[in-house]
Amino acid sequence: MSPSEKTVPVVSERDGAVAVLRLDRPDKKNALTAAMYAAIADAWRAAEADPEVAVHLWLGLPGAFSTGNDIEDFVAMTRTGALGGEILDFLRTLASLEKPLVIGVDGLAIGVGTTALLHADLVIASERSLFRTPFTDLGLVPEAASSLLGPRRLGHAVAFELLCAGVPFDAARAAAVGLVNRVVDAEALETTAWETARALAAKPRAALVAGRRLLREVPGCGRAEILARIEAEAAEFAARLASPEAAAAFAAFAARKK
Ligand code: COA
Repeated sequence: MSPSEKTVPVVSERDGAVAVLRLDRPDKKNALTAAMYAAIADAWRAAEADPEVAVHLWLGLPGAFSTGNDIEDFVAMTRTGALGGEILDFLRTLASLEKPLVIGVDGLAIGVGTTALLHADLVIASERSLFRTPFTDLGLVPEAASSLLGPRRLGHAVAFELLCAGVPFDAARAAAVGLVNRVVDAEALETTAWETARALAAKPRAALVAGRRLLREVPGCGRAEILARIEAEAAEFAARLASPEAAAAFAAFAARKK
């Protein structure tokens, strides 16, 4: 079977008024490929257009929400010299959701597995979760508008620690700095995430969407600024992907696997 014939390991379905998306690539701890980004963006678009859907819920697997972009895909991008179109489409769609997004994290949340949380409305994490963005160590820069949303949400010092210094945050720290809303036992993670999503979905929908939009249209950090920042970061990211620093980091990751 060629890679293109394989099923994309993203499962999307609707349960009542909740559109759930599950990453399901256990062998790679939910590292995200171009095909997975495309499947996620398609699922979100469909859920946004579905009048039955009130809330998006995004889940990973036990022990791994996501380890971020697939490093082999990064290596492929160094040959094209551009950030994959699927990634950009995924990021623009994430930043443009109108319906609330609830994310449940159990375990590893690396790279975009952490920066995507800055776009969520409610994040539930298990106590064994770990949040880390090793952009600098990979010769890269923060993405997903985290260079804008991170300092706003966390303040510069904490955002720098997470996004530039690559310091891992455990669940308690992530909750203390406002990256996640609530920390629960790993066994309770999925139930709590579902309860959270269903409780939101039971509220008056138009009011929920209108309130969410108002909270998000903060001066200097509204949707237009977020989308513009995604593009600016992508240009820098593409330049960094072509750098000797990134090549050395990707080679070290490949060598580590053998
Ligand atoms: N891209 C590609 N493959 C990845 C991956 C990623 N982002 N994250 C994990 N994997 C793969 C590993 O290569 C390994 O594959 P293999 O079994 O074919 O060798 C498999 O997933 C399991 O991961 P492993 O490294 O064995 O698990 P671990 O518990 O020892 O370490 C991590 C987990 C997350 C610390 C480690 O996998 C890692 O550093 N991954 C890269 C994370 C990253 O830098 N992401 C990009 C952020 S911008």
